[in-house]
Amino acid sequence: MRVSGIMGFHLELLLGVVLVASPVLGISSCSSDGRMALYHFCNLTQIPQVLNTTEKLLLSFNYIQTVTATSFPFLEQLKLLELGAQFTSLTIDKDAFRNLPNLRILDLGKNQVDFLHLDAFQGLPHLFELRLFACGLSDAVLKNGYFRNLRSLSRLDLSFNQIHSLSLHPSFGELTSLKSIDFLLNNIAVVCEHELKPLQGKTLSLLRLASNQLYSRVSMDWGKCMNPFRNMVLETLDVSDNGWTVDITRNFSNAINGSQISSLVLAHHNMGPGFGFHNIKDPDQNTFAGLARSSVIRLDLSHGSIFSLNFRLFETLKELKLLNIAHNKINKIVDEAFHGLDNLQVLNLSYNLLGELCDSNFYGLPSVEYIDLQNNHIGIIQENTFKFLGKLNALDLRDNALKTIYFIPRISDIYLGGNKLVSLPNIALTANLIQLSDNRLESLDNLYFLLQVPHLQILILNQNRLSSCKQGRAPAVSLTLEQLFLGENMLQLAWESGFCWDVFKGLSRLQVLYLNNNYLNFLPPGVFSYLTALRGLSLSSNRLSSLSPGDLPPNLEVLDVSRNQLLSPDPNVFASLASVDITHNKFICECELSTFIRWLNQTNVTIFGSHADIYCMYPNSLSGTSLYSLSVEGCDEEEIFKSLKFSLFVLFTVTVSLFLVTILTVTKFRGFCFNCYKRAQRLVFRDQTKARPHDTYKYDAYLCFSSKDFEWVQSALLKHLDAQYSDRNRLNLCFEERDFVPGENHLDNIRSAVWSSRKIVCLVSRHFLSDGWCLEAFTYAQTRSFVDLNSPLIMVVVGSLSQYQLMKHESIRGFVQKRQYLRWPEDLQDMGWFLHKLSQHILKQGKEKKKDNVIQLQTIAATP
Ligand SMILES: *[C@@H]1O[C@H](CO)[C@@H](O)[C@H](O)[C@H]1NC(C)=O
Ligand SMILES: *[C@@H]1O[C@H](CO)[C@@H](O)[C@H](O)[C@H]1NC(C)=O
Ligand SMILES: *[C@@H]1O[C@H](CO)[C@@H](O)[C@H](O)[C@H]1NC(C)=O
Ligand SMILES: *[C@@H]1O[C@H](CO)[C@@H](O)[C@H](O)[C@H]1NC(C)=O
Ligand SMILES: *[C@@H]1O[C@H](CO)[C@@H](O)[C@H](O)[C@H]1NC(C)=O
Ligand SMILES: *[C@@H]1O[C@H](CO)[C@@H](O)[C@H](O)[C@H]1NC(C)=O
Ligand SMILES: *[C@@H]1O[C@H](CO)[C@@H](O)[C@H](O)[C@H]1NC(C)=O
Repeated sequence: MRVSGIMGFHLELLLGVVLVASPVLGISSCSSDGRMALYHFCNLTQIPQVLNTTEKLLLSFNYIQTVTATSFPFLEQLKLLELGAQFTSLTIDKDAFRNLPNLRILDLGKNQVDFLHLDAFQGLPHLFELRLFACGLSDAVLKNGYFRNLRSLSRLDLSFNQIHSLSLHPSFGELTSLKSIDFLLNNIAVVCEHELKPLQGKTLSLLRLASNQLYSRVSMDWGKCMNPFRNMVLETLDVSDNGWTVDITRNFSNAINGSQISSLVLAHHNMGPGFGFHNIKDPDQNTFAGLARSSVIRLDLSHGSIFSLNFRLFETLKELKLLNIAHNKINKIVDEAFHGLDNLQVLNLSYNLLGELCDSNFYGLPSVEYIDLQNNHIGIIQENTFKFLGKLNALDLRDNALKTIYFIPRISDIYLGGNKLVSLPNIALTANLIQLSDNRLESLDNLYFLLQVPHLQILILNQNRLSSCKQGRAPAVSLTLEQLFLGENMLQLAWESGFCWDVFKGLSRLQVLYLNNNYLNFLPPGVFSYLTALRGLSLSSNRLSSLSPGDLPPNLEVLDVSRNQLLSPDPNVFASLASVDITHNKFICECELSTFIRWLNQTNVTIFGSHADIYCMYPNSLSGTSLYSLSVEGCDEEEIFKSLKFSLFVLFTVTVSLFLVTILTVTKFRGFCFNCYKRAQRLVFRDQTKARPHDTYKYDAYLCFSSKDFEWVQSALLKHLDAQYSDRNRLNLCFEERDFVPGENHLDNIRSAVWSSRKIVCLVSRHFLSDGWCLEAFTYAQTRSFVDLNSPLIMVVVGSLSQYQLMKHESIRGFVQKRQYLRWPEDLQDMGWFLHKLSQHILKQGKEKKKDNVIQLQTIAATP
């Protein structure tokens, strides 16, 4: 089975992140598979009769109005019932769920509950979670005994209701399993000690009282109200978004004196003046003093307007381990602000307005391991700011305005992305992870420097400008580096200068390398050959048009070459991989690609991406067609590529067969016809054929071809045209193997051949395109065309070269775009005609317009 629909790249697999497509529910809506019954949006007005094996019954989004004791069949197996979000108001009668004795989760959220019988939830001894959010419930739901006997009830969600007061019914005291109560977004102005009495003695994992304007709407008499959480242990108390000022916070802290609260969430508060509101105070030494005996371990003060961290602000919070003051307006850290935080491990100061840090800022934090300063405006950091923090492990300075990093201590994880670093100072660093993405690093010197950092395992340098390279650098050796991210740089510029080709030579432990988006149009030979441990390589989004087997590191498993310009890849390159992403390339769907297409169809290598993303770019008629939908039949002998068109062809055969019969007779014997014609012509114009144009050229044509093609050129061309081969021939040709002066500079030979011949015939074959001298000669012949209006250059394309392959070479591209060229005939019987035409061209004199240079041999070649 193929995996489709997985997006993005897959080196993540190696990095330990597994992408999983979202699970699809096995059944469609309004049906049941025996264990789960899914009835969302089914216009139900009553409970459907489902099998007694049902474990999950999902009935949200319907029109059910009433639930009574007889509404449900007896469902002993049912564990989960969702009955939320009915489009009508809901009446819940006495013992409504008694036929569901083993129900664990009951969801009634987002219903307009018109009537809730006091005994509605009776008979549910195993109910663990009850969701009653957004049900329009009032204080009555707490005051009366609705939840009595729910001895398994652990979670009660009453958020988004209209509860004004928390006077709990005494039966709450019997709910021995109760752990979590959520009162988010009600209207609870005050909670006092006597109201929560039934909860005394309990340990709750969560009590959420956020967004109630609690204690901020009325003036509080704490002497009367006393400690609402007396004798309770709260793992998390959430009092966020209640509009708490410094005074309210202080009075509250004092009031709950002694209650245990491990995690106090006081986010979205009203403390601090921010910019401009000077009447609003920053918290001070007294604000949290009342929490001294509460053993607070985590304090969340994020999302406020605190401007200044004042003197000994957190002095009493001796047990605090995590302090989050992110998303405030902190600009100032007063001396000794963190005094007393002897156990603090994580300090989060991200998203504030710090502009500079000085040596004294973090005094009083002997245990701190992680300081998060990302997204401030820090431009200056004094050299010893972090150096005395003995336990510091990780420092996050992303998205600031740093221009240098000499203050960086020797710690494990350093995050410096999104700053303004242009180059790195030569300092003694030690780190496991260095993140420097999105800076302005330009010289590869920085890379060489970082590779030498001891213990470095992960180096992230994407989104920089790495592009310049000094010559003669010895490769950096790192025996620890495992992951290197160099995406979104400009390594092409560095490598095309011819230097830094050995930058990876010393990285024998590297496992993952990202080189995506680097404008690469070639890979320096052997650049990866020392990466013996490399398992994942991303070359995505470059401009590579080909890859050869030696290009890749020896033990590679996962390769991403998506979004390149691969035209016709050699499957052997990928054969040893475990998986490869080749989507969005520019495949040329001609016969040459047939081995690749076959390979694709039967390989064991996992091919990432959907079939539709592996498509032809050329020829136009197949543009966008998936390689998987092509047929490669008939490609074995480099015949014209047959494809989908075959079926169309069959359709049309009937109508055109008659026509074809006629044509075939002519085509089949066209060679013979042509010979007859020639013979007749010779008889009639005997003398004229021998007439030679007289001009000053030494040769009629300089025949320019790759020496690898010599054999066939000799037998197919020279023997039939060159006068020295046979008396019947009349052309005086020049070619390297015979006419070049030995010992002379090769370029001079080419130059004189070009200038002493009337025409230059270039036989552009595959060998020609890979022969530097041939391309040189071609370019040279073209320059002659500029001065010689007779268009002396004749280009003959040999073999099945595509337009794309020709276009790859700049000089040939220029020619192909402006002039037309000849194609070597594929059918032997066309040879005579072709040679005749070619000779005519060679002998053609100036004056005549170049339009005669236009011969449509392609048509012949294409005749089936
Ligand atoms: C529910 O009723 C609406 C409106 O009558 C209709 O469009 C929809 O198809 C019905 N849905 C089902 C599942 O029957
Ligand atoms: C379900 O009902 C069938 C008969 O309708 C009965 O035989 C079977 O025991 C019931 N199963 C359970 C789990 O109640
Ligand atoms: C806080 O308590 C003090 C002293 O008990 C009192 O004067 C003040 O009004 C209280 N402030 C608030 C906002 O409750
Ligand atoms: C908290 O309670 C302790 C003992 O119960 C008492 O000594 C201390 O003064 C109280 N603190 C406040 C701020 O009320
Ligand atoms: C600090 O807070 C920011 C903003 O809420 C958050 O993104 C970041 O993960 C936190 N840092 C730590 C170390 O928890
Ligand atoms: C792919 O393989 C299947 C069976 O192995 C074969 O039927 C099909 O023709 C092949 N397609 C191509 C394009 O080779
Ligand atoms: C794919 O795996 C099967 C079984 O492991 C093996 O028989 C087959 O030869 C493999 N095919 C290729 C192309 O490696």
